[in-house]
Amino acid sequence: MTTFAPPRGMRDFYPEDFRARDALFSAWRETARLHGFEEYDAPVVETMELLERKAGEEISDQIYTFVDKSDRRLALRPELTPSLARMIIARQGALSFPLKWSAIGQCFRYERMTRGRKREHYQWNLDIVGEESVLAEAEVIGAAVAALRRLGLSANEFQVRVGSRAVLAELFARSGIGQEHFMACCLALDKRGKISDDEVARLLEEEGLATRDIERVFELLAITTLDQAAAAVGADSAALAQIRELFSLAGPLGFAPFLTFDLAVIRGLGYYTGIVFEAFDTAGKLRAIFGGGRYDSLLSNLGGQKMPCVGLGFGDVVVMELLADCGKLPATARRVDFAIGFMDDPSRDLALRAALAVRAAGKSCDLALAAEKPKKFFARADRAGALHAIYIGPDEVQSGTFSIKPMDDRRPWTASLDSFAERLAGPA
Ligand code: HAM
Repeated sequence: MTTFAPPRGMRDFYPEDFRARDALFSAWRETARLHGFEEYDAPVVETMELLERKAGEEISDQIYTFVDKSDRRLALRPELTPSLARMIIARQGALSFPLKWSAIGQCFRYERMTRGRKREHYQWNLDIVGEESVLAEAEVIGAAVAALRRLGLSANEFQVRVGSRAVLAELFARSGIGQEHFMACCLALDKRGKISDDEVARLLEEEGLATRDIERVFELLAITTLDQAAAAVGADSAALAQIRELFSLAGPLGFAPFLTFDLAVIRGLGYYTGIVFEAFDTAGKLRAIFGGGRYDSLLSNLGGQKMPCVGLGFGDVVVMELLADCGKLPATARRVDFAIGFMDDPSRDLALRAALAVRAAGKSCDLALAAEKPKKFFARADRAGALHAIYIGPDEVQSGTFSIKPMDDRRPWTASLDSFAERLAGPA
């Protein structure tokens, strides 16, 4: 073995990394709970048949695929949405809708490695299935914003940009650009920022758009206000009315300061049909923090009944970079309620009994695994982030009492094993 690093693009989580990840997962989970989402899970391995698509999305070329020992074509999931759709379709007759589901899952994409993009990441997903109203969009966006606020970020640090494929489709139609070009144009236009506008224009040309149409497309994407969009698409546009409604729902739901209208947000996945959105750092240094939208045709395209869906995916990589940039990484110091040590083998029995009492009271205890000198024990208790330390020696065994030392400057107290257990069981 020449290297002990994980495969390129994959991460190890040492305990301190794990604690940081856990703080993020807790914020996601608690936010999902507060917003009434139920948690689900699905396998990391899916059939290639489910994940394979014909739309020409970037994600299709990034799938880690393999053949198993029975010649099944399988793959590591690049996202959770196809698995969610499969699970819904499998019980579409039995589930009651609308449903609100949430998951945290590891996803794999063979991506070009750039800042914020790895070959494995954890993604928090929120999806609402079976609801046409824009309140569904408002709920998922509001929840993602709430999670970022819970992590300490404000509207000065990130914004959610909202666009609409449906508005864009209307604008294309009004500009005389054939509907058959729409999906390919969306996928090409989503590459803006990653490749130059000239290269995007070349992709549009390859798709068969005339120079005049390409210029018009770029003009449309420069639209930055709802009024400009209304002027271009007509004030009676149903798609535009939905965006307006989303902005008006954001007020009472408390996330209006976090929303920006931006028709250039298109998304790189083929299945979106309506409102689409992506969150970015306001400094403009990082890739998208989360992204999602409405996908009303995915279930029927996969063989289920047509049903409106809205959802988002929120990765762990970019948000951690943003928190680091803002000096707001979650505190990840190790913490344990008690450290218990002993001087010699005859003292061990009482130490073990004290540890049992601590754990029975639902508190954590790091019990020494061997006899050690007091200096070494207290140094180790400190490193373990212990809130209290108990050290048992021959004197304690003889008196049947021991001292409980808070590791800050509070005063120690002395107890017998029984009175210690009683005090632990009482109010903290
Ligand atoms: P996505 O935009 O492909 O959407 O990914 C969502 C989020 O996952 C991104 O905004 C980013 O935070 C994170 N992410 C994606 N790829 C990587 C990567 N290679 N490295 C690190 N982070 C990454 C979806 O996956 C949709 N399935 C979301 C969705 C759910 N739409 C509806 N429901």
